[in-house]
Amino acid sequence: MKLWGGRFTKEENQLVHNFNESLSFDQKFYRQDIRGSIAHVTMLARQGIVSEEDKDKIIGGLEEIFKELDEGRLSFTKEHEDIHSFVEANLIERIGEAGKRLHTGRSRNDQVALDMKLYCRDEIEEIDRLVKGLLGAILKIMEEHADTCMPGFTHLQKAQPVTLAHHMGAYFEMFYRDRTRLYDVRERMNYCPLGCGALAGTTYPLDREYTAELLGFYGPTLNSMDSVSDRDYVIELLSALSTIAMHLSRFSEEIIIWNSNEYRFVELDDAYSTGSSIMPQKKNPDIAELVRGKTGRVYGALMSILTTMKGIPLAYDKDMQEDKELTFDAIDTVKGCLALFTGMISTMTFRKDVMEESAKNGFTNATDAADYLVNHGVPFRDAHGIVGQLVLYCIERDMALEDMTLEEFKAVSPVFEEDVYEAISLKTCVEKRVTIGAPGQAAMRQVIELCRRRMEE
Ligand code: ARG
Repeated sequence: MKLWGGRFTKEENQLVHNFNESLSFDQKFYRQDIRGSIAHVTMLARQGIVSEEDKDKIIGGLEEIFKELDEGRLSFTKEHEDIHSFVEANLIERIGEAGKRLHTGRSRNDQVALDMKLYCRDEIEEIDRLVKGLLGAILKIMEEHADTCMPGFTHLQKAQPVTLAHHMGAYFEMFYRDRTRLYDVRERMNYCPLGCGALAGTTYPLDREYTAELLGFYGPTLNSMDSVSDRDYVIELLSALSTIAMHLSRFSEEIIIWNSNEYRFVELDDAYSTGSSIMPQKKNPDIAELVRGKTGRVYGALMSILTTMKGIPLAYDKDMQEDKELTFDAIDTVKGCLALFTGMISTMTFRKDVMEESAKNGFTNATDAADYLVNHGVPFRDAHGIVGQLVLYCIERDMALEDMTLEEFKAVSPVFEEDVYEAISLKTCVEKRVTIGAPGQAAMRQVIELCRRRMEE
């Protein structure tokens, strides 16, 4: 059934129908569509625009459709253009005349704007739950590894020693910011477009505040033309999802490196690894690689909607139907990645011994050796040069700074004394970094406590 057949004399061409239809994908938000319709008709009845009796029939019918779709007893039939047409046609088929009153004072333009908002809002809640789960898994690792030393890197070259808790803490910050970003998106979008009609509102005495309240919005949107054509919240959500995907991708990249035969910092659980069809020895980090790879899809969705929206004159234009498929895909992709990633890092084992051994090599204590000289009155620039010479000396002999005898130290600078060994030991290098945000135990414990509290927000 067509909602708009009246002024047409020809049947719609099949190819046109196929090109135009959105039911094949907007069926994904049938729950939101029905929820919106129930709120709309509840308001219509309260305003005396439809009778109580019709309202009850309509709500009864809509609830049946909801339930039957949920239980898979009703299926979407192709002849309908979109989810809105499908539900309305089905309602009329079911309850007759009363069903024809549902669309009073409403257009599919404000209806779809509402559905998409409700869908995004519901999904934000779900995504937030998953990010929170990931934060929990990261925090657990932080709590267990506040004294597990590892090298910190810049340029993927060993730089200074840190702890595993500290390294994980960086990801805690990233994903925590992601949660706040999701919260911001929700706050800004939480105004109800229903009642804006096609573009210019309606002559019926609708109570938009009431519908907004029924649907859990802060209030109604304030401009009907903007309301039916605003997809900023989709862009903001996809931007937030792109950032989550980017964070997951960076983390995946590190896990892939750490899991490599050369690093061996971590061992992925068998359940989160895959084998090779030809090389029997292989245990590949496919999940991490896929998470890294899927980032491209999520960015793609963001680029797509930004491009779609850039040339649209006010108010609604059909281009906007293109907001759905990629958004749905990006949401599902990120949810899938978050769930798998959380499982992967929760089951992964850290090789403390390998990490600590690695932190000892590669002169991660060179800065501390220079700081030792500075603490004994040598200007930093000179200290830097002296330690540079020591490093060169050690590289030529394949040894670490702490392997040198005191005589060898003194040969380069007489300032060195016996206590240099203590000053450049791995433990001291980490422990001396006590300012908030640094890896030293005391600072780290404080941050872990704050992270715990953030989990309760
Ligand atoms: N399927 C359409 C969409 O997603 C619904 C709105 C249709 N409105 C219209 N005037 N054709 O955008």
